[in-house]
Order: sequence, then structure tokens, then C-alpha cells
Amino acid sequence: MKFFGISTAIFAVLSIANQLSQAATTASPCDPNTCKLPNCLCPSLSPPNGMKPSDVPQFVTITFDDSIQPELLATAQDVLNVKNPNGCAAKGSWYVSMLYTNFALVQQWYAQGNEVADHTFTHVGSPSSQEIAAARAMLNQYGGVPLGKIKGFRAPFLNYTQDTLREIAAQGFQYDTSASGVVDDCYWPYTLDYGLANDCWNNVCGSELKLPGVWEIPMYAVQDSAGTAQLMDVYLAGSPSDVTAWSNANFDRHYNGNRQPFGIYIHPTHLTNYPGLADTTAQKKAVISFIQSLQGKPDVWFVTNDQLLQWMQNPVPASQLASQPYMQCTTPKIGKEICNGLENITVANNVVSGGLLNSCNFNSANWDTCFNCPSSEPTLENPTPKSAVASTDPSFRHVVPNDCDSLWWDPIAGQCLCSNTTCAYNDTAVPISTNTTVNRAASATGGISRETNAENSSSVKFTTSLMGLGLSAGVAAMMAL
Ligand SMILES: *[C@@H]1O[C@H](CO)[C@@H](O)[C@H](O)[C@H]1NC(C)=O
Ligand SMILES: *[C@@H]1O[C@H](CO)[C@@H](O)[C@H](O)[C@H]1NC(C)=O
Ligand SMILES: *[C@@H]1O[C@H](CO)[C@@H](O)[C@H](O)[C@H]1NC(C)=O
Ligand SMILES: *[C@@H]1O[C@H](CO)[C@@H](O)[C@H](O)[C@H]1NC(C)=O
Ligand SMILES: *[C@@H]1O[C@H](CO)[C@@H](O)[C@H](O)[C@H]1NC(C)=O
Ligand SMILES: *[C@@H]1O[C@H](CO)[C@@H](O)[C@H](O)[C@H]1NC(C)=O
Ligand SMILES: [Zn+2]
Repeated sequence: MKFFGISTAIFAVLSIANQLSQAATTASPCDPNTCKLPNCLCPSLSPPNGMKPSDVPQFVTITFDDSIQPELLATAQDVLNVKNPNGCAAKGSWYVSMLYTNFALVQQWYAQGNEVADHTFTHVGSPSSQEIAAARAMLNQYGGVPLGKIKGFRAPFLNYTQDTLREIAAQGFQYDTSASGVVDDCYWPYTLDYGLANDCWNNVCGSELKLPGVWEIPMYAVQDSAGTAQLMDVYLAGSPSDVTAWSNANFDRHYNGNRQPFGIYIHPTHLTNYPGLADTTAQKKAVISFIQSLQGKPDVWFVTNDQLLQWMQNPVPASQLASQPYMQCTTPKIGKEICNGLENITVANNVVSGGLLNSCNFNSANWDTCFNCPSSEPTLENPTPKSAVASTDPSFRHVVPNDCDSLWWDPIAGQCLCSNTTCAYNDTAVPISTNTTVNRAASATGGISRETNAENSSSVKFTTSLMGLGLSAGVAAMMAL
């Protein structure tokens, strides 16, 4: 069965008015003499550790949001089809929501060296603890992504609150990337030890919320020719040639300035052609050309947000980046197909097949996995129901354990094929509880105090626009997930 599964955040096509950079509240002061790497970093327009901009890499982060489906993954792979200066393929981060996601493709994306991160279970604005925990549990259980590698979170509709960030901290995530940085607050990633310093029109920036050691990676807006800040899917905000012109101007502002990371934030649904929707071929071609034009510029690296944070914690000059362990790109040579995300998978007509995959079929979704299908459809309350087959069944698959990366894990034999320190992995992540009560308790014991917020930010303009997508009402309703 085939689904017309567009699950995207059209509300997240944000057009942020310039006024947003004028602080309605003010970020808390942060003293760089006490806040020091690797675990603390103050918000700053300049590179960490006093490094000269010309000595640091120009990171380009290309991120994708919402479900991973065959056509959407193909779009992402087309977009990422560039190389880094060390010869490795560009890497990207995907903020994954669960509905319509095919977990075999999650594992494939991860096995190719990309990042898998949390974007909630049902793609809901101001998500509950359970919404966040359920998505992470499924990405681990069915996508085989080690818990400790699911480090990041992005709020659906970029609609986060103080509670959202508290949940991220309580559940052991390393970073959030839901806030936006325009020009005045175009900060390098920083820790929340002294609170949020972006989006000072909301009641999070300048509040008492302080989350030591948790990073914020601002989403870097670009300014269009009218000076309006554009954040996600900027290719929908003008003609391809105009978008390319102002994307270049904004890239140069970073590259020739303080080299803050440059972000390209994509909903693959908006660059994938669907019958009945506007043809996006021209937009996709322009985005790809723009990205290819950055390839090969000195010191330009296409990295995941995870890789970016590894550099932030221990910054090295651009000349040394190629030799950092987190920038390597060797793939395991296992010698047999073990269903680790690197096995042969074919995709035809939006259907995924592979000899070792299990196909799990439910009322509202079909998906594939290297692991066991659940005995009932995952729900928010029970995202990882018990396995459809018993552990004594020869076809039983073993979930990736805490001390083996799924690249080396044979889920059929239940065996880790890594036998030396080069590939060794030991998960230090906080175990998931999909029991909301437990997460709430963890949050409450985190020593984080609730506070009241007296700021009035209602006068600050915040516009979300549905760009001219030519959607029928029915399709628009489906997309507004
Ligand atoms: C955003 O979060 C606020 C506060 O929790 C909530 O009232 C609002 O409905 C959310 N918006 C969306 C689009 O989910
Ligand atoms: C996987 O694909 C490769 C290359 O096409 C082929 O040599 C190999 O036999 C395939 N393995 C399986 C198990 O189908
Ligand atoms: C580590 O082990 C893996 C598989 O067990 C092997 O492919 C790799 O070559 C080994 N690396 C070293 C440095 O021995
Ligand atoms: C992984 O780390 C845990 C906790 O630090 C430790 O108890 C365990 O022995 C480690 N496992 C391996 C295989 O190194
Ligand atoms: C959730 O955790 C609480 C506190 O430990 C416990 O009382 C409750 O039974 C748990 N609920 C479920 C569904 O496991
Ligand atoms: C907040 O600002 C709006 C618009 O300026 C104003 O109408 C409203 O009265 C203010 N509310 C408070 C509580 O100050
Ligand atoms: Zn989304």
C-alpha cells in the first residue's frame, strides 16, 4: 500500500521580521572567564577561544526536517551531493518526526555518516515530554541509531518554550536547534549556562532558564534583498535567481566576516515533486547549484550539527580539521550483509525492499526495519510495543545494545562485529523512559526552578506564512501535521 505521506511543517516556513533582532528582552550576562570550553561557552559573534576568523573552518550545516520517506531521502541525497576538503562526502542532520517515517531509511541515512535527531512523535508545537521521548525511542528501536548518537532536538514549527528546553536537558540531549539568529544575534553555538540569547522577543531569552552544558545551535537566517530575514525553505521566498543572489551575499557575510556557521534548512517535501503540487524542479536546481558553488572554497566544510559541536568543544584551526576523528569517513568492511544500514536496499515507486528487511504493516503506516516489527502500531503512549516475534523465534532481531554502534551490529546473530578500539562504542546516554511520569520526575530533580515571566512580547511581530504552494485545502490539511 502506498501513502501520499507528506508530513511537513508548512508553518515553519518562517519569515522573520527585522524587528526580531531588536531585543524585547536582554540575554543574561555571561562571563567568558568563568564559562570555558569544553562544557561552557558564552554567546559570541566571534569564533571560540579568541581564534582569528581566517583560521577557523567555514561550516555549512544542511539540515532536513520531518519524516524520512524514499522520495524525501532521495531529495536530501541530491542536495548533499558535494564533498568536503578531505574527500569525504558532505554530511547532514535530519530532525525526524515519526508519522510516515520508514525506519530502514533512518538507519541507511545514519550509516552513511549523517546525523539523526529528534523532531517529536506527532510533530506537535510545544511538545510534551512523551512526544520527545517517544520519537527518540523509535529512532533507536527501529532505526538502530544508538541512543547516545541521538543528541539533538528541533521543535516542530520552531515553537519551543522554556519547558521544551527543560525537557531536552532532562532527557539528556546535548543540544537544541530551534532558536533563530539574524544579524545582531548571529552567535556561534553556545551553551545555555547563562540562558538563551536568541529570539529575545519571546519569554525564554532573558528568563531565569539556565541549562548548564546544554548547547543552543542558532538557526542562521539569511536576509533577502528587502532586508527581511528568511529562515527555512528560503527557496520559496523568491525567484531562483534572486534567492541565489541573496544566499551568496549572506554566505559571504559569514565567510568574509566572523565565519559563524552558515545554515541551509530544508523541508524535503518542498523540493520534491508530487502530482498536483507546484513543480519545484527550478528551486531544487538552484539550491543544488548554490551548494555546489560553495564546494571547494577554501576552508568550507559541510557538517552535521553533531560534528559542529565536536569542533566547538575542542576548536582546532581549519588546517587541522581533516585529521580530526569526527571528520573521517571510512565505512566498515564487514564482508557480509548484516542489516546495518549499508546493505542492498532498493526503492521503487516509493516502496523500500531489501532481503534482510522486515516490513511492518499497520493501518496508517507501513515501514521497514532491520529490527523486529512491533506487535501493534506504535502510539504516543506506547511507541515501542513488544516484538511481533518471540525472542526464541529464529527470525528474532536483537536491538542494538549500548556497547556497539549499529554499523557493526548484526541484529540477526545478535553479535557485535567490532573487535578493536577503532570502532568501539560505548553509549553513555541517559536511558530513555517513555513513561512521562518518570521524565517529569527527572526534570523536577534536575534542580531547575520554575520562574514567572513578566515580559510582554505580544507586540513583537512574528509572521508565519504559507508560501505560494498552490495547495488544495485537502492537501494543505494533510501537510499541516
Ligand atoms: C506554540 O506554543 C504555544 C505555547 O505552548 C502554544 O500555545 C501554541 O499553540 C503553539 N503553536 C503551535 C503552532 O503549535
Ligand atoms: C548487494 O549488491 C552487490 C552489488 O550490486 C552484490 O554484489 C551483492 O551480491 C548484493 N548482496 C546481496 C545479499 O544481495
Ligand atoms: C578493527 O576491527 C575491524 C573489524 O573487526 C577491522 O575491519 C579493522 O580493520 C580493525 N582496525 C584496526 C586498526 O585493526
Ligand atoms: C561501558 O560503560 C559502562 C559505564 O561506564 C561500563 O560499566 C561498561 O563496562 C562499559 N562497557 C564496555 C564494553 O566498555
Ligand atoms: C511510570 O512510572 C511511574 C513512576 O515510576 C510508575 O508509578 C508508573 O506505574 C509507570 N507507568 C507505566 C505505564 O509504566
Ligand atoms: C502587551 O502589549 C500589548 C501590545 O502593545 C498591549 O495591548 C497589552 O496591553 C500588553 N499587556 C500587558 C500585560 O502589558
Ligand atoms: Zn517539522
